[in-house]
Amino acid sequence: MTIERPPEFFFEIFDASLPRLGPGDEASTTRALHTLLAAMSRGGNGGVGRPMRILDIGCGNGAQTICLAQHVDGSILAMDNHPPFLDELQRRAAAAGVSAKIQVALRDMHSLTKDDGPFDVVWSEGALFIMGFREGLAACGALLPPGGGLAVSELAWLRSDPPADCRRFWAEEYPAMTSIAANLATIEGCGYEVIEHFVQPESAWWEPYYHPLEQRLAPLRKQYAADAEKLALIESLQKEIDVHRQYPAFCGNVFYVMRRR
Ligand SMILES: C[S@@+](CC[C@H](N)C(=O)[O-])C[C@H]1O[C@@H](n2cnc3c(N)ncnc32)[C@H](O)[C@@H]1O
Repeated sequence: MTIERPPEFFFEIFDASLPRLGPGDEASTTRALHTLLAAMSRGGNGGVGRPMRILDIGCGNGAQTICLAQHVDGSILAMDNHPPFLDELQRRAAAAGVSAKIQVALRDMHSLTKDDGPFDVVWSEGALFIMGFREGLAACGALLPPGGGLAVSELAWLRSDPPADCRRFWAEEYPAMTSIAANLATIEGCGYEVIEHFVQPESAWWEPYYHPLEQRLAPLRKQYAADAEKLALIESLQKEIDVHRQYPAFCGNVFYVMRRR
């Protein structure tokens, strides 16, 4: 996803009916959650002694929100700035029987302040980069008490020797992308203790994200064959998929599970 407000056509591609809007899977969300709750306390529910308050930043259509709701005793504030994603999240939550645990907030994540907190846990899959990784970590820190939990996923270079084609593509699409070691140092520098980090499996890119996205691109490419601007966006997304297909070992989606010191 791009950082500036995307053109309307972007949302014709990223329709709310897609399974999810970035790489990820239920196994990774539950792994991160259980690691975090275990670290926060040896007792149940993160040891907060009452229902937890969780904030999910850039929740999209809610794949991880619903998973969290299914595994915790508490409430989740699901925040996004695109109304159709929040509508779809609410439909999915109702179908999963977890509506009572989820509230949605149509908000720009940049507007979050200390007064929105505190939360026991802040969650953000594939969305913190929108504020900037470091800035996002700092913004989350203001919403958490000492010992509060934070789990985020973020793209990273997995190797320092990407082929030129792969390096060029990501240098344009996400120039701030860096190594896992650099992100771990940033996390520590922002006042968090890292509990665990792990690279999400390759299947988390394909089954819920790239395969359905690629299926959407094919008819849109035909429909907009005469529209250079729309075609350029379609082909840039196709290029991202092709680069990952060709060079899966170089760029990964990494989960970082941490507590505020
Ligand atoms: C890559 S998607 C990730 C969505 C979801 N977490 C997932 O993994 O499927 C990023 C999400 O951030 C949302 N977003 C983008 N800019 C935002 C902003 N300024 N404030 C709030 N949400 C934003 C997008 O609408 C989108 O749902």
